[in-house]
Amino acid sequence: MIVTTKKLFEAAYGKYAIGAYNINNSEQTMGLFRGCVESKAPFIIQISKGARTYTDKRMLEGMIRAADEIFPEAIFAVHLDHGDEQTCYDCIESGFYSSVMIDASHESFEENIAITKRVVDAAHAKGIVVEAELGQLGGVEEHVSVSEADAKLTDPDQAKEFVARTGCDSLACAIGTSHGAFKFSGSQGLHFDVLAEIQKRLPGFPLVMHGSSSVPQEEVARINAAGGALAGAKGVDADQFLPAAKLGVTKINIDTDGRLVWTRVHREFFRDKPEGFDLRSPGKIFMSEYAKFIADKNVKLGSAGQIDTVRAMLGQG
Ligand code: G3H
Ligand code: 13P
Ligand code: ZN
Repeated sequence: MIVTTKKLFEAAYGKYAIGAYNINNSEQTMGLFRGCVESKAPFIIQISKGARTYTDKRMLEGMIRAADEIFPEAIFAVHLDHGDEQTCYDCIESGFYSSVMIDASHESFEENIAITKRVVDAAHAKGIVVEAELGQLGGVEEHVSVSEADAKLTDPDQAKEFVARTGCDSLACAIGTSHGAFKFSGSQGLHFDVLAEIQKRLPGFPLVMHGSSSVPQEEVARINAAGGALAGAKGVDADQFLPAAKLGVTKINIDTDGRLVWTRVHREFFRDKPEGFDLRSPGKIFMSEYAKFIADKNVKLGSAGQIDTVRAMLGQG
């Protein structure tokens, strides 16, 4: 069942965080639904601009509709990840997405507000919710590259003004994470002090943490042992998810970790079976490993086991 992130956030606020996982293909979709159904967790499917053009955006919609039928017990939101203004309008018009992210965080404060407000007005007119972003994460995104040195943490006073002036429904904050497999160079870590200040100014308002893959060292070691070259990869400690949730983080974005599972499975498979060429053989292993990975993540996020409470809250119990 597709719901808005607003409903999921109401249930989760201050207690746990909802996992937001990116998908690009059917194997990821199957693994994601299996993992969430098995762990009884509500979840958010994220679709990036890159995912929409990887095969075709209609392919993703078709897969999600099919998965909704295959797993009728699943409760999830469909969310555009890191949208620009035009892609937000496209998703709002499509009638399929329950949530969009407008990412104008690379613009000036005033321009970010103006763009976000236009998207909020268009989305709310159709009952769709909007995530916006203030501050800049380190790492590389599709449309903008921000060096770690230039990464700007979210200013708590600006966050309050931004939410009041845009009417956005949730806010992605830069608190020290970055996208990709190489986070926290040197002694950097999560800035819980900044998060606490933001929550103080925006009590009850859902905050979002991007760049939250854990980059498990065991996964990295297995990839490297099977021919990969990911020396120095590092991520967010998953034990920090629940403390972040207590400070108002209700959505935690995870993409890179899933890519690492895919890479490990396929590298090991073809290392051990160089004669292999049936794509379904590693594909089956990946779906099963990905489902396990998702279920474990949901335990760390605290969303595992919450589906019945959410269903009851939605009046479906
Ligand atoms: O934040 C970016 C997400 O990991 C999506 O990545 O734009 O390469 O699909 P992508
Ligand atoms: P990771 O690269 O840490 O998985 O972050 C994903 C993300 O923020 C998607 O928006
Ligand atoms: Zn992101």
